[in-house]
Amino acid sequence: MCGIFAYLNYNATRERRHIVDLLFNGLRRLEHRGYDSAGISTDADPCCAPLTVSSGAVLRSPPPLVFRQEGKIENLVSSFHHEAVVAELDLELSFTSHAGIAHTMSATHGEPSPINSHPETSGEGNEFLVVHNGIITNYMDLKGTLLRYGFHFESDTDTEGIPKLAKFVRDSLNQDLGSDGGDKQVVPFTQIVMDVMRQLKGAYALIFKSSYYPNELVACKRGSPLLLGVKETGDMRTDINVESDLSAEGHHGKPKQYYLASDANAIVEHTRRVLVIEDNEVVHMKDGAVHVFKFDSDKSRRLLRPASVQRGLSTLEMEVEQIRKGNFEHFMQKKIHEQPDSLTMTMRGRLIRGREQKAKGILLGGLKDHLKTIRRSRRILFIGCGTSYNAALAARPVVEELSGIPVTMEIASDLLDRQGPIYREDTAIFVSQSGETADTLQALEYAKSNGALCVGITNTVGSAIARGTHCGIHLNAGCEIGVASTKAYTSQIAVIVMLALALGDDSLSTQQRRNAIMDDLYNLPSKVRDVLKLDKHMKELAALLMDEQSLLVFGRGYNYATALECALKVKQVSLMHAEGIVAGDMKHGPLALVDETIPIIVIATRDACLNKQQSVRQQLKARKGRLIVMCTEGDAEFMCPDRRCRIIEVPKVQDCLQPIINIVPLQLLAYHLTVFRGFNVDQPRNLAKSVTTQW
Ligand code: UD1
Ligand code: GLU
Ligand code: MG
Repeated sequence: MCGIFAYLNYNATRERRHIVDLLFNGLRRLEHRGYDSAGISTDADPCCAPLTVSSGAVLRSPPPLVFRQEGKIENLVSSFHHEAVVAELDLELSFTSHAGIAHTMSATHGEPSPINSHPETSGEGNEFLVVHNGIITNYMDLKGTLLRYGFHFESDTDTEGIPKLAKFVRDSLNQDLGSDGGDKQVVPFTQIVMDVMRQLKGAYALIFKSSYYPNELVACKRGSPLLLGVKETGDMRTDINVESDLSAEGHHGKPKQYYLASDANAIVEHTRRVLVIEDNEVVHMKDGAVHVFKFDSDKSRRLLRPASVQRGLSTLEMEVEQIRKGNFEHFMQKKIHEQPDSLTMTMRGRLIRGREQKAKGILLGGLKDHLKTIRRSRRILFIGCGTSYNAALAARPVVEELSGIPVTMEIASDLLDRQGPIYREDTAIFVSQSGETADTLQALEYAKSNGALCVGITNTVGSAIARGTHCGIHLNAGCEIGVASTKAYTSQIAVIVMLALALGDDSLSTQQRRNAIMDDLYNLPSKVRDVLKLDKHMKELAALLMDEQSLLVFGRGYNYATALECALKVKQVSLMHAEGIVAGDMKHGPLALVDETIPIIVIATRDACLNKQQSVRQQLKARKGRLIVMCTEGDAEFMCPDRRCRIIEVPKVQDCLQPIINIVPLQLLAYHLTVFRGFNVDQPRNLAKSVTTQW
């Protein structure tokens, strides 16, 4: 779990200060992906005489500079400026062309420290430098081999073998070619990277920088996400054509700027023209051209030109505003308040309005050819992790109701641990905000190999799950930056409710019910806007709860998921213990916890379970429970006749949409609790946004 970033300027003169700031800024945009160490590499002063390393080899350019630091990006920024002063680095020095790489990490191997941070190096002289997102599973074997060849390792990471292997490959290829292994760069950079790829097992997105190949970068990926952004001043071509790039001589002089990043967030403020790099592609930036090659696993083809790929650039559909905090203190706060808009975007073009403002139907473009197959399936499985799992759980009752198909829920890792049975007659629906969640992705491979129809619900076009599923629905909710997912949760529920409506739309008996749900879907954004007005109220409640050790949340039916999701948010960001409990199970254990000390939220908005929740409230009250009751507007008196509980009154919508309304004040509660308790809202301890690795 980490973010990698690179910036290459070609024939576009930039000062070192500008380049370094741009790299730091790229990392800031990726910091939600990992934040326990960071590093960058840039070029040394080009005027220096070529240096030799201990082996006696002459480098083509002086060793690139590497700056690494433990902790947040800002730690790296200050240590960089300190080191720059000590080394008398000229920040105003201009580079006509330059390639810089950067990394922000959530470590998988070794404790966060400068030594364990990336860029990892081939050794003295920084001949090859690598930033890596992912995990190399055969790194011990690799390390063993390289140690035997005399390489010296200094970090505990699984990445360090990669630049060392690159050096080993280069030296041996040059020897094969009879070169002196020194001042000539006979072997193409891509050849070295492909030879390295042949030896790697696991998941990765990698960016290579080398002193042998100044102003060039090579990137490749398998499993982890990577995007290329292209900014060509005065050149409006819309595709990268490998052949014409190679042949069109005059073309090469034009100023170009390239960006590589794990996430579109780090690119959109520079350019909207991107190429989503696919697994097993190798991208080479050199002399103002980009070459994309397909990785060739055939060892016998060494030094032959690999197959090139010709693909058009796509346009990022996100707004630069989305990556800024605007008037908000934190991204999580901003994303909570954006929910009326994200829900509108999710429903746009999909919820079709009839005459007289009446509901007409649902159009899910991505599913229209598959609805029949889904309707015929014997079972629907929802598969996800964390908040995505909770979203599916919230919408499960309405899918069962409107489709009549049994629905089972699977936490992706648990399904894999059990190797639970999946059949050809099943529809497996994979829910993931990023579309890169490692457990869910692996569960997708598993379900596919068992012959199930695989449907994705993802927020990221081009993500591994969106591509790997047979069909699906994009949330269109806009990007999420805070680690704790908020707006994706509500959009996921809205999408699954729309799916239920689409599955049931051949049934006359449910027509009225479906129309009522669709009418409320229309009104949902404005109801969410109303419920956001509880912000101040939730802040007061958070002030009362901030010193508590623990919080219980009881929900049932449609709002069992609301209880789980509230507890998850509170745990995840405010670091307070919280437990979501299905209220019907209270008497089977959790009731023993109740006394006058522990605060308890009871979700009791109007639906078929209201009377049962009323009796839950009475039982908790009888045990002196400190109650906070969430009820429908106007129900305060009914739910709390003695006025001795705190009340959160929310607007009423159709029962199956109520979880979307109910979670909003609870997200606000988690947010304010975190701020009061003094923790980092957007970067909770030990977590990262896209969990792209498995344990
Ligand atoms: C599509 C366009 C949208 C446009 C609309 C107008 C894209 C990405 N979406 O939206 O910009 O406004 O048509 O007609 O171009 N898919 C998966 N797995 C997933 C998610 C999606 O396989 O996890 C597939 C779908 O089956 C579909 C495609 O990706 O083939 C696009 O899905 P989606 O964006 O949801 O489709 P539309 O809503 O039709
Ligand atoms: N596995 C690498 C390391 O620990 C990269 C971690 C990541 O992807 O965040 O060094
Ligand atoms: Mg697909």
